[in-house]
Amino acid sequence: MTERRPRLEGKVAIVTGAGSSGPGIGNGKATAVLFAREGAKVLLVDSAEERALETQAMIKEEGGEASVFQGDVTNADNCRLMVESAVERYGRLDILDNNVGISRRGTVVDISEEDWDQVMTVNVKSVVLCSRYAIPKMIEGGGGSIINISSIAALRAHSSTPYSTSKAAVIGLTMSMAADHGRDKIRVNCIAPGLVYTPMVAPRMDETLRDRRKTASPLDTEGEAWDIGYAAVYLASDEARWVTGIVLPVDAGLLTLSPVTYDSMSQQTRY
Ligand SMILES: NC(=O)c1ccc[n+]([C@@H]2O[C@H](COP(=O)([O-])OP(=O)(O)OC[C@H]3O[C@@H](n4cnc5c(N)ncnc54)[C@H](O)[C@@H]3O)[C@@H](O)[C@H]2O)c1
Repeated sequence: MTERRPRLEGKVAIVTGAGSSGPGIGNGKATAVLFAREGAKVLLVDSAEERALETQAMIKEEGGEASVFQGDVTNADNCRLMVESAVERYGRLDILDNNVGISRRGTVVDISEEDWDQVMTVNVKSVVLCSRYAIPKMIEGGGGSIINISSIAALRAHSSTPYSTSKAAVIGLTMSMAADHGRDKIRVNCIAPGLVYTPMVAPRMDETLRDRRKTASPLDTEGEAWDIGYAAVYLASDEARWVTGIVLPVDAGLLTLSPVTYDSMSQQTRY
């Protein structure tokens, strides 16, 4: 058997929100570690430097290559400098994982205008700003792959109207960007994570709710940030060279269910 080459060998990646907002592994951290494991050089972007440094330490311990860029992806100058830093440090840019996202609960009746604007700025405008500066550099290098992190909350009501709306906008952005930049050899895809247990949701979770989330889906297992990271590796790699403009749910099949579903395995009605 021939030896397997690392799937992202020779590529340079930016992961935004590459730290984790608490102890444990978030989607950005897992993705950055897996990108490095597959041979990519990774620029770890986070507004909280110490969080990105933790991810860098994990990567260095495994012998991978990564460096930290502290910046706020809602700020255009920071985004420009972020892209320039990747190219200065590593010579090119092939992959952008737009992972930063925040959540705010509320309906259109009770959400404050301030919270609404913040969610839309952090979750949507950041994708525009990071991509705006990344795309010309990718074109210079002959193409690239952009991965936008949405959520199944974009496709199902989630008691969080601003979050759902912003994540639906990320899907629309993905489609538009894929069409606009396909001929530049830039693929743009979107991952819609399901009910993943990460530091972002852990503070809102007790064991009962955690268990309900776990058993809610057909696969009946808890999702981890690594599940999102593995999907990102595929979309970033040349294995996905013919894949653009898609929304890839990584949700243990949750989207296949209706609120009331007859379970053919247990012959019971599940909720
Ligand atoms: N955890 C889930 O169940 C779940 C489900 C669906 C989608 N998602 C999405 O996954 C993505 C990331 O999740 P995570 O678990 O890695 O989150 P996380 O909160 O653990 O980490 C996000 C990181 O982003 C950084 N950050 C926040 N705002 C920033 C800004 N303006 N500029 C730069 N950095 C900033 C934070 O400091 C933090 O380190 C989000 O887009 C989220 O909406 C998560």
